[in-house]
Amino acid sequence: MEILAQHGSVTEVSTPLVAVNLFEGVTSPGGATGALDRALGGLISRLIAEGEIKGKLDEVTLIHTQGGIPAQRVAVVGLGPKEKFGLDAIRRASGTLLKRCRELGITTFHTIVHGAGDGGLGADECARAIVEGALLASYGYKQLKTTEQPRAVERITLVEADVSKVPAIEAGIRLGRVYADATATARDLAAAPPNMLYPETLAERAREIAARYGMPCTVLDEKEMERLGMGAILAVGQGSVHPPRMVLLTYRGDPGSRRLLAIVGKGITFDSGGISIKPSENMDRMRYDKSGAAAVLGAMQGLAELKVKANVLGVIGAAENLPSGHSYRPGDIVRAYNGKTIEVISTDAEGRLVLADALSYALEQGADTLVDIATLTGGVGVALGTGGAGVMGNDDDLIRELREAGERVGERIWQLPIWEDYLWEQVKSEFADIKNSGGRMASPAVGGLFLAQFVGSARWAHLDIAAVAWVDSDHPALPKSYIPKGPTGFGARLLLDFIRKGAEG
Ligand code: BES
Ligand code: MN
Ligand code: ZN
Repeated sequence: MEILAQHGSVTEVSTPLVAVNLFEGVTSPGGATGALDRALGGLISRLIAEGEIKGKLDEVTLIHTQGGIPAQRVAVVGLGPKEKFGLDAIRRASGTLLKRCRELGITTFHTIVHGAGDGGLGADECARAIVEGALLASYGYKQLKTTEQPRAVERITLVEADVSKVPAIEAGIRLGRVYADATATARDLAAAPPNMLYPETLAERAREIAARYGMPCTVLDEKEMERLGMGAILAVGQGSVHPPRMVLLTYRGDPGSRRLLAIVGKGITFDSGGISIKPSENMDRMRYDKSGAAAVLGAMQGLAELKVKANVLGVIGAAENLPSGHSYRPGDIVRAYNGKTIEVISTDAEGRLVLADALSYALEQGADTLVDIATLTGGVGVALGTGGAGVMGNDDDLIRELREAGERVGERIWQLPIWEDYLWEQVKSEFADIKNSGGRMASPAVGGLFLAQFVGSARWAHLDIAAVAWVDSDHPALPKSYIPKGPTGFGARLLLDFIRKGAEG
């Protein structure tokens, strides 16, 4: 999709559709909407007075102009109440408009930059939000469909009356595209079927991304992991004919600094539960158990694309969790890379085993800060629903910075406490140093406490994205217009924005 900025007036552009906006409750529109209203002889204010246009978020009202102005159609896009307005409202409004245009078969349209005239927000960030909303809303995992797909929107032009704002809008367009591409990469990887994307091919995808940007990439195969003693990830992968992989991407955007962050993703390419097998209903979904790894790769791509001034390792623990005669079993005791012994209670608590070795590996590579991201527990959805992901960790500043990044990009996270004094009971093992499952109670935090044993003295945060990495259409909180049903790519933009912000200050 082509996205352009153009200096001009909405009353003069010749286009199949030009979009303006309205806040909820406004009765006499100003700015570009007011200008169009006058050009159309007061039609927009009449529709507002009659209650047909309310300005609600996700509302799009189409007006055919019948030659009254050069544009064939005007779309009045609702922005919701002014008090709640922000970048996420812009993303949503933009996504909703994109979908409407797609339904109508409109392949090119113009829009003003919502929010750019209202003070508070910069024209660049508003343009970025429009681009993110449109590109993310247009996403679909269609690469394996052989039937013809409906025509996509091919071009969007952002029109701005104030010529001095055009360069900022152009910068915003560029940034929005990088962010949306990071999310699209994450969505593609999360959605990919498990017969095509398994540990070896996931590692290949990582290599391709790394090669595109000249990032060094190391892939450990099962033999190297055996030599190194990564007994936890090896145990998880041993039931599959597709052996596990440990992937390391190195991005050095700030060679003068010694600080080193690692983002660490859970890459279970299919989670059947293993011997502790899951119910068969919806088991196909468990291909999105690689969403953490997908978010890491999306973020690494974005960092490299933007040449962010930071040093970041991307680490992925990739394995397939299947039952077979070679599988690991409940009762097995395995030795993790850092030497700790783990009693396997459930082979379905495999993510923390893979992450245990991936976190230790990241530490060994010199990381001083670790952020892992994983579809770790069903329980996080019980706690928080699909409105946001869970975050846990050992450093309040790190958690706050991540939460703020989440607010900025529209990927909310909320902290769950790791109350070690009483949760330890749930992970202590009679026969090993720790066990991998402590039952249902507080399962996200028990997962967090488990992971905490593998982060040494590094600053560390853990994002549990199990309930937000994939959405069904019938869900109350999601989807938003720009988060269509399917893989959400949650975390790619959050991690990218968190790292960019850290690089600034
Ligand atoms: N991949 C699952 C978590 C999950 C559940 C992700 C639902 C997405 C949707 C994870 O490996 C798992 O099975 N977790 C168990 C842990 C338990 C055995 C301690 C869970 O949450 O039930
Ligand atoms: Mn599992
Ligand atoms: Zn899993």
